[in-house]
Amino acid sequence: MARHLALGIDIGGSGIKGAPVDLDTGELAAERLRIPTPGESTPEAVAAVVSQLVDSFDLPEHAPVGVAFPAPMDHGVVRFIANLHQSWKGVDLPELLHDATGREVTAVNDADAAGIGEQRYGAAKGRDGVVLVATLGTGIGSALIVDGVLVPNTELGHLEIDGHDAESRAADSARERESLDFAAWAGRLQRYFETVEMLLSPDLIVVGGGVSKKHKEFLPLLDLRAPIIPAELRNAAGIVGAAALASSRAKHSKHGKKHKK
Ligand code: BGC
Repeated sequence: MARHLALGIDIGGSGIKGAPVDLDTGELAAERLRIPTPGESTPEAVAAVVSQLVDSFDLPEHAPVGVAFPAPMDHGVVRFIANLHQSWKGVDLPELLHDATGREVTAVNDADAAGIGEQRYGAAKGRDGVVLVATLGTGIGSALIVDGVLVPNTELGHLEIDGHDAESRAADSARERESLDFAAWAGRLQRYFETVEMLLSPDLIVVGGGVSKKHKEFLPLLDLRAPIIPAELRNAAGIVGAAALASSRAKHSKHGKKHKK
């Protein structure tokens, strides 16, 4: 059974999730494990959880490992961090996780990972033009994919809209924190997506994050020019995309191409 496997790990504000991914199908090859994000989410505490996850699966020695992280990644270095401990700023994530796990790790922004997951295996498969994948969770993540090519680190969750950091009003965490019903939250999403649409004119918008499983409650309330559809891989998109990116980078480096730093 020569399955083409890579491990994907998705570091989030509330949980750190991982599973081996079958790269031929984009399906999880074993049940996903989830460990709550440490309350004090420092680099050391999070690296210890990642190492625990890596050890929980019976992985081939050289299986690629991809990690999705909720911050812009400047060639692996965290530029700023909104929803984890502030001491992450300036940390070289692949280096930290290599020290913690003994493995080569590819690090990517979490929304970019979800975007790649949806583009290779999910709702955006085979879609050309400008595709925006937005993840609604603790923050708002964005992936911009143009004719199948990712424009990394777009950070559209931090657009300033009506004087606010957009994710502080329209992320799923804002809905929960303020006990908004779906109609009230949809009003905020409408304002958010119409601003993004004005700036980027996407041909398709894909909405992911855990709340996308309740898409019937809010997507039909939105009135946009582009079709707006739910992610197909739902909350596994980050795991799947990170695994897929780790595998393509491993292949490139085997062929002698430099891919880091
Ligand atoms: C971060 C992004 C991330 C998003 C979703 C934002 O606060 O700045 O990098 O993709 O949250 O986790």
